Amino acid sequence: MSDEALTLDGQIASAQQELFVPGAPNPLPGPLEGLVHLVHGDSLSHYATWPSPTLIVSDGAYGIGGFIGDPRSPSGLAEWYEPHVAAWSCNALPSTSVWFWNTEIGWASTHPLLEAYGWEYIQCCVWDKGMAHAAGNVNTVTLRRFPTVTELCALYVRPPQFEEAGDTQTWLRNEWMRTGLPFAEANIACGVKDAATRKYLCTDHVWYFPPPAQFSRLVEYANLYGAHDGRPYFVLPAWANKRKRGCKRAKFTCPYGKTNVWQRPPLSSSERVRNPDGATTHPNQKPLDLLDQAIRATTGPGDVVWEPFGGLFSASIAAALAGRQAYAAETNPAHYRAGVARALRTVPVAQDSGA
Ligand SMILES: C[S@@+](CC[C@H](N)C(=O)[O-])C[C@H]1O[C@@H](n2cnc3c(N)ncnc32)[C@H](O)[C@@H]1O
Repeated sequence: MSDEALTLDGQIASAQQELFVPGAPNPLPGPLEGLVHLVHGDSLSHYATWPSPTLIVSDGAYGIGGFIGDPRSPSGLAEWYEPHVAAWSCNALPSTSVWFWNTEIGWASTHPLLEAYGWEYIQCCVWDKGMAHAAGNVNTVTLRRFPTVTELCALYVRPPQFEEAGDTQTWLRNEWMRTGLPFAEANIACGVKDAATRKYLCTDHVWYFPPPAQFSRLVEYANLYGAHDGRPYFVLPAWANKRKRGCKRAKFTCPYGKTNVWQRPPLSSSERVRNPDGATTHPNQKPLDLLDQAIRATTGPGDVVWEPFGGLFSASIAAALAGRQAYAAETNPAHYRAGVARALRTVPVAQDSGA
């Protein structure tokens, strides 16, 4: 542990008492300031003040009555998440990703809402906790199902949206149709045998955007031979030009050997935050290593990570340890205090350059 960390460790007790001011933003002193921004309160009141995120790590309601305000059943989840998803959509960049933690049924209940707000599903990762999670003897005769030892973490991104056409695939096809030229001529335009009609201008899932050279040829041809009154064709909206200047699509890098099954035992007792009486401080505390993996896969050093449902601020701590900037909120005062103390204890010890 570094001297700096020791100094901070000494501040924890006072942090728990003195730094807690209901509703106060970022009470963290010293090295944490600028890296970790933790507020006590409702994230809905703070989204507008946070910088736009590269990543949102959502670990909110599960529909199991797990914390005050968590609906008692998954059927209430879409309503619970809607104001948050609406706010994420307003504040997101074209490059923002969301990791959405939940149970199987909790995710299934919320997926249509995320899609309705323009979030594109990429994949679902499964945290397999193994048999260690099925404590004691599991009586499947009484249970009448396989023992559940998993949680899910689903990845979403924001596909570019065109005002009238919606998605890129529809926009590309609509623009060609506006020219009045036959579809087969798109192959001549692009100098390909039939990739234009079968890949670039199709309506099914094998679609992909033409490579830059073919796209340039398509644009040139359409504007030369397409109907006069519809010109210009294939004019990209302003956000697409912004993207070219560095506002890129969602980030993703995955080390070789990782898959979407995250085999990892339940949280160990050494990582678990406990109250002085030994009781678990937060029942939903997530492992730092899984959060680190998800954060590094979808962000770069210095990027902004939001954790709207902080708990003990596991995602913010993992983000800061990886050299990202974290913005988080927690409504429960006891969890907030414990989370702030944990951040003070943890972050300066292992800060790295975040490769
Ligand atoms: C599932 S727990 C998160 C646990 C966290 N991932 C961890 O590892 O410690 C959800 C937390 O979100 C908090 N919460 C619920 N609604 C909130 C809101 N609107 N704003 C801020 N916090 C909220 C709850 O009090 C609860 O502690």
